[in-house]
Amino acid sequence: MRTSQPQTIYLKDYRQPPFLVERVDLRFELFEDGARVHSTLALRRNPDGGQGAPLELDGDSLVLEQLELDGESLAESAYQVTPSSLRIDQVPDEFSLYVVTWILPQDNTRLEGLYKSSGMFCTQCEAEGFRCITYFPDRPDVMARFSTRVEADKARYPVLLSNGNDVDRGELADGRHYVTWEDPFPKPCYLFALVAGDLTEKRDTFTTMSGRSIDLRMYVEHRNAEKCDYALDSLKRSMRWDEEVYGREYDLDIFMIVAVDDFNMGAMENKGLNIFNSSCVLTSADTATDAAFQRVEAIVAHEYFHNWSGNRVTCRDWFQLSLKEGFTVFRDSQFSADMGSPTAQRIDNVALLRTAQFAEDSGPMAHPVRPDSYMEISNFYTLTIYEKGAEVVRMLHTLMGADGFRAGSDLYFERHDGQAVTTDEFVKAMEDANGRDLTLFRRWYQQAGTPVVEVSDSFDETAGTYQLTFRQSIPATPGQSEKLPQHIPFAIGLIGENGQSLPLQLVGDSGDAPEERVLELTEQEQTFTFEGLNARPVPSLLREFSAPVKVKYPWTRDQLLFLMTYDSDGFNRWDAGQRLTVDIIQSLMDSPQETVVDPRLVTAFRHLLSDSRLDQALVTKMLQLPTEAYLIELADEADVQSIHKARTRVLNQLALQLRDELIACYRRNTDDGAYAPTPDAIARRSLKNTALSWLLHINDEEGRSLALRQFSKATNMTDQAGALRALVNSDFEEDRTSSLDAFYAQFSDDPQVVEQWFSIQAASPRAGTLDAVSALLEHKAFDWKNPNKIRSVIGAFAGQNLVNFHAADGSGYRFLAQHILALDSTNPQIAARLVSPLTRWRRYSASHREGMKAALEQIQAKPDLSKDVYEVVSKSLAG
Ligand code: PHE
Ligand code: ZN
Repeated sequence: MRTSQPQTIYLKDYRQPPFLVERVDLRFELFEDGARVHSTLALRRNPDGGQGAPLELDGDSLVLEQLELDGESLAESAYQVTPSSLRIDQVPDEFSLYVVTWILPQDNTRLEGLYKSSGMFCTQCEAEGFRCITYFPDRPDVMARFSTRVEADKARYPVLLSNGNDVDRGELADGRHYVTWEDPFPKPCYLFALVAGDLTEKRDTFTTMSGRSIDLRMYVEHRNAEKCDYALDSLKRSMRWDEEVYGREYDLDIFMIVAVDDFNMGAMENKGLNIFNSSCVLTSADTATDAAFQRVEAIVAHEYFHNWSGNRVTCRDWFQLSLKEGFTVFRDSQFSADMGSPTAQRIDNVALLRTAQFAEDSGPMAHPVRPDSYMEISNFYTLTIYEKGAEVVRMLHTLMGADGFRAGSDLYFERHDGQAVTTDEFVKAMEDANGRDLTLFRRWYQQAGTPVVEVSDSFDETAGTYQLTFRQSIPATPGQSEKLPQHIPFAIGLIGENGQSLPLQLVGDSGDAPEERVLELTEQEQTFTFEGLNARPVPSLLREFSAPVKVKYPWTRDQLLFLMTYDSDGFNRWDAGQRLTVDIIQSLMDSPQETVVDPRLVTAFRHLLSDSRLDQALVTKMLQLPTEAYLIELADEADVQSIHKARTRVLNQLALQLRDELIACYRRNTDDGAYAPTPDAIARRSLKNTALSWLLHINDEEGRSLALRQFSKATNMTDQAGALRALVNSDFEEDRTSSLDAFYAQFSDDPQVVEQWFSIQAASPRAGTLDAVSALLEHKAFDWKNPNKIRSVIGAFAGQNLVNFHAADGSGYRFLAQHILALDSTNPQIAARLVSPLTRWRRYSASHREGMKAALEQIQAKPDLSKDVYEVVSKSLAG
């Protein structure tokens, strides 16, 4: 057990910074046994901050070598150094501080601050990594102009990068050289970056809307030189899109992207120098799947969009994290929708939200989009901040309309350019630009928990009226027992007997009657009456998932089948299919002896598989059965084994009864042409690979030979990995081993592919996987210092292989706890993220609860547990 409890930081304690930093001049001397950082700060007392306060700078793991105030060395009695700070009691109102620190990047396994990855130096400063480099007021509301001189051995580190424009370079003694960078835009220190290494440079250019030519440069290890095109292409498309849709132009002369193998997250939006996890930026047809291509496009766009939503306008404090993340995720999902299939994109977003964010929102770590407190900010890079935050911005877009939203965003950027602001100021800009009062809407930022909307309806045949009544409620969450109603934009349509869209004529509304309406729910209970109907309609509720809520309505299976076919909203067609399948799986769980799957489901799936006139991007989504994770989220007391059994039974029945249709679908979607990640080609490959996995699920011999052929003849990774996954999950023992071996032999020198090879095995539901997974940890390609490897084995096992992770004997839980404990000492951020599959132990059935709780207790008992892991574990066990 930790000896002291980490401090909780509260939003209500926010105070302006007592000192401002006008300029930072950095000089880095990079060596193999450490790095020396010279920092000269131009400091000034904040006229609006605490008068007479001492100067207190943050620091972490630093050795202080030199300290001068206005050119004079400070006596040791004039300052105090603690493990987390440097404090100087007497300082003038304006002064210069020169600080020299010595740090050890080569030993930095936390991957925060300056560290080494595959022989190169790189940095990660968000949220609080800059304090691991030098003493500084490490908070986002201190914005300064930076200049950075990087010095290193020229042969080992020919490329030296930092933010902004390179203004000077030259040779030094002993085979060393330097480059100096100037960033003209004031920025918080979390956006600082430095890279030094032996890297290949790929160049491109982009001409902005005002005619400026921007140098685009991508830096990767030499072996990855051929994997840059798609990222550069995505970057140019993002730059154009942001000009067209938001009127935002790029502001520096250079924009750089760097790929690094060791990275805690996906990527980072450092000003002018975005740093990416290799797995989120490198692609080639034969090594990256369609999903990877889509991920690269989305993340490149996300980081680029931060240049305005995050960098030019940044966060006042870390409680406002969703100001930049929610808005930027919304922007990147709009972009991806415009580039690909909007409905498929929306389905993917909602599936993630409903499975993982809803789970977070009903668990012990639930927090509002703007949290009130935290112990360790790294734990708050959550699905709530990112995905729910994006949904909140999306609702503003729905309520204001596209033009009103654009007016609000223009006002926001104009009003706050160069400032560090709050989510409230974002909403205020929307209010002011649209003349609307969004007081009630602000509750989305303040209240945690997923609202539940119960819908009931009635039809009056004689009057020809149809009534819809909505009741909203929000469950209690930690620290918030009472909730108030929220402002919910609820999009609906009504569908007539023959599947036609009906006009929505509201009683008492003289305006015209559209076929879709966004009802604004603002009270606990509200009723809307529609007139002019001669038969009872079927309601299409929460179209396009217009708000992040749970809808309860007593749909009959026939209504769901009807909606699957006739709803004009593609998202709701998918949703009806999901609800129907969930209902069928749940009924099998309730009566385990029942073996027959509702024949109406089989008929519906037969239609989906066979009618090639349907939108294939939507069909492939509709064919995916609800995941086990989603079924667990829906359960009051999840029994993972019975969920797995019931779901598998449905899958089996569908595959057995639709066997011929699956073969035909497979053949129809086989395409030997050149690889292209276009929406249509992606949909076809996905359909084909789904068909294949279903065929192998029932051990079909023809499916087996199709899979073997696809595996060896594939011209792209989507097909090759799709065949491998299907074989690995099958009962064809020999094919499984031989294809795994062949795959590894073919790609052993490519870390991104080896990670896929790991995760296909770790996620396989076949019995006995835990031993196989433990063996992977001994594999020579496994590396405890590399977050991607940890995620692809341990993360994939605990997060995707639910039937084995939740094995009845508790072995999965003990396995996870053991590795979290080891990682806690080397990389606490990664360790804390791995705790998440255990946190909702109270929502599982008795057969799981004790084992999960015991694993948490075992972790909690470690002496000197990191603050990161302590926060998650103690909150999970509390209450
Ligand atoms: N700010 C990054 C993004 O969302 C995520 C990140 C957070 C990366 C913290 C590293 C560390 O784009
Ligand atoms: Zn982001």
